[in-house]
This record gives sequence, structure tokens and C-alpha cells, in this order.
Amino acid sequence: MNYVLEMKNVEKKYVDAYKKEVPAIKNFTAGFEKGKFYAVMGPSGAGKSTILSIMGFMEKKTGGDMYLDGQKINLMTQREMSAVRREKIGFVFQHYFLNPKLTVMDNVILPMKINKKISRKEYKNRAVELLKYFGIEKYADRFPDEISGGEQQRVCIARALANNPQIILADEPTGNLDEDNEKIVLDTLKRLSEEGKTVIIVSHSRNVIKYADKVLNIREGVLEE
Ligand SMILES: Nc1ncnc2c1ncn2[C@@H]1O[C@H](COP(=O)(O)OP(=O)(O)OP(=O)(O)O)[C@@H](O)[C@H]1O
Ligand SMILES: [Mg+2]
Repeated sequence: MNYVLEMKNVEKKYVDAYKKEVPAIKNFTAGFEKGKFYAVMGPSGAGKSTILSIMGFMEKKTGGDMYLDGQKINLMTQREMSAVRREKIGFVFQHYFLNPKLTVMDNVILPMKINKKISRKEYKNRAVELLKYFGIEKYADRFPDEISGGEQQRVCIARALANNPQIILADEPTGNLDEDNEKIVLDTLKRLSEEGKTVIIVSHSRNVIKYADKVLNIREGVLEE
């Protein structure tokens, strides 16, 4: 099977303030395909954000193996991890994390500026294209606090797509939204998966189940069959 991302027996142990080990993820094995929509579900504290952070190269696993495009990921420095993140991963946060001092347009442009793969002129065009795609181009010159939560979340998704990542990870992207906006965001993520992205979303909402090609249930750090 050709997986975009594959986890084999991945483990994560945190060490708490008392030097006690906290096993957050145990023996996690799963493969993720191109063009599919995955939902990761489970009770609070189950390890959902932890596994998503590992898949997004935000945190290091403490055991097991991980493969990106069939290539085994060896031990990486923080700098190498952020390079992979920048090129291959789009991360969507529950609390948006938009830069309040930048306009909607400049928030979407920022990852392209940092990545330095395309020219200044091109990234403006690409940002406009993304904002149009999500129906928020009319807010391009507004600041994040001048648009609604659902609109901010769509800006956040547009920003996650700026460098055209293969994988989109979203940690409770609809946690702060009403039902209408939740639907808009889920429809958006679904459309991206249908266009060939691998979408993995952590959610408490039962509504995501009908969108998902596969639901992964985690409980106490263990993936349930
Ligand atoms: N930095 C840390 N140090 C120690 N323990 C941690 C740390 N981060 C998370 N944990 C523990 O790891 C476990 C999994 O946490 P995680 O945030 O992944 O849960 P979650 O499933 O995302 O929960 P929620 O639905 O509430 O967001 C929890 O028991 C948590 O207390
Ligand atoms: Mg969480």
C-alpha cells in the first residue's frame, strides 16, 4: 500500500514536572493515504493532540517508526523538522493562531514568505486565489478580529495551504464554531481531500463521522480496532 504517512508502533512518553513518565501514545500503527479524510476521535486526554503533533513534525516521538512518502524518518533536529513541516504539512489550529497585526491577506502570505520558494508577485496571486477559493477574498484587507470565527478558521485553512502541502492536519478545527460554520469548514476539508490531499482531523463532534473515509478511535493512548 502507498501511504503518504505511515506510523508503526509509535510511542510518546512525556516526562512530567516530577520526572514521572506519562505514556501518552502507545504502540500506534496506522497508514494514511492520498485523497482520504481521516477523523481521530476519543475522550479528553486520550492522546489525540499528541499523535497529531507527532504526525505534523511539531513534536518528536519517543519510540517506533514513521514514514513520509515511503521514506523512513530518522532522528531530526528542530530545524529539519520545521523544514518538513513547512513543505509538506498544513496545520489548522482550534484557536486559529492568526497574527492579529497582519491583514487576512498577509496572514496567508506569511508562510510563503518564510518558505521563499516563489516570488513576491506569485505569492500575492496565490493568496488571492486561496482566499477566493474559500469565499473570503472580500475580507483580504481586514484584520482577524474584524471577521467571524468561521471566517477566521477559513483564513487559517487558506494559510495552511499556502505552500501546497500534501497533508493537512487539523486539531479540533470546528471546536469554536456554530453548526453552520462547522459545516462550511468540514465541507472545505472534505473538498481538499477529494482533490488529493490527505486530511486528518481531530474532533469531538459526531458530525465529522459522516465526512470521514476512516475513523480512528483512541483511548488512553491506544488505537482501538
Ligand atoms: N507536555 C506534557 N507533559 C506531560 N504530559 C502531557 C503533556 N502534554 C500532554 N500530556 C498528557 O498526555 C495525555 C494526552 O494528551 P493530549 O493533549 O494528546 O490529549 P487529547 O486527546 O488531545 O485531549 P483533549 O481532547 O482534551 O484535547 C494526557 O494525559 C496529557 O495530560
Ligand atoms: Mg487535544
